[in-house]
Amino acid sequence: MQKIDEIIQGFLRDLNCDIVLNMSKSIKTGKKLRSKLILSISGENEESYKLCAIIELIHLASLLHDDIVDDAKLRRGARSVNSEFGTKNALMLGDIFYSKAFSELVGFGKKISQLIADSVSKLAIGELMDIELSKNFNADKSLYLDMIYNKTAVLIEASARSAAILASLDDLSFREYGKNLGLAFQMIDDILDISSDEKTLGKAAMSDFKEGKSTLPYIYLYEALDDKNILLDFFKKDLNDIEKKSLLDEFNKHGILEKSKKEALSYGNKALKAIEKYNNKKLNDIIENMINRSF
Ligand code: FPP
Ligand code: MG
Repeated sequence: MQKIDEIIQGFLRDLNCDIVLNMSKSIKTGKKLRSKLILSISGENEESYKLCAIIELIHLASLLHDDIVDDAKLRRGARSVNSEFGTKNALMLGDIFYSKAFSELVGFGKKISQLIADSVSKLAIGELMDIELSKNFNADKSLYLDMIYNKTAVLIEASARSAAILASLDDLSFREYGKNLGLAFQMIDDILDISSDEKTLGKAAMSDFKEGKSTLPYIYLYEALDDKNILLDFFKKDLNDIEKKSLLDEFNKHGILEKSKKEALSYGNKALKAIEKYNNKKLNDIIENMINRSF
């Protein structure tokens, strides 16, 4: 993973701009799920490392913009770029990361470049869907699934598929793997927002519902409650500790987090089924670690 960070640093130095380097220094490195995925498919070689660096830079760009959209103050346990350097700078840094990533991506040829570029359009469409769905409480699971597919799964799907193309493997099986891994990943993220705390997550906890995001556990709780107002009264509210505790009690009473985790696990199993013929232990481990992670 260090090798990938070094390539990213090289990309940023190419830009010859101290402001970019200074702001970038404040960003902590992440879990690098997409890189682990790529290296597990196309192996450890210079080409794979470079593809990882490109995808991580795109992912970073999307997080910079997402933290502006969500007005998030914390990311990876540190102040978000928008909070430390202001929205205007964070917006531009995201644009710079994305365009540099794309300029490097062109070297991978038309098929992979187009695949990744198309996935970024969908990523932005997913974020738009997220903004739209956050206006009112959403109880429709299929709209939620469509949104998280675009917002999160599409780039993971494109990463897996591109790595398979690099390694001359059957890219459609890996696409299916990446898609289902991505869906499960976002479901776990949405569960952790409720079950974990700010210190473990490195970002605000219990913030989704306050931001208007009716994620999978909230949809399931809505379905389980006779009196829906128990939940709807809390929508978009900045809850105090007593209100948070009473909401958590409702989740526990109805076994909602277990039910949501089971759903994530079923997508994880779907992912594994798609590539079972390859007998790749690393890809099994990625699913297991992703499901059982704490941040
Ligand atoms: C996190 O969602 C956000 C994403 C996974 C994608 C956001 C995509 C964009 C802003 C558009 C892409 C733009 C460029 C320049 C590439 P979340 O808010 O649910 O997760 P969080 O809790 O980690 O913030
Ligand atoms: Mg966010």
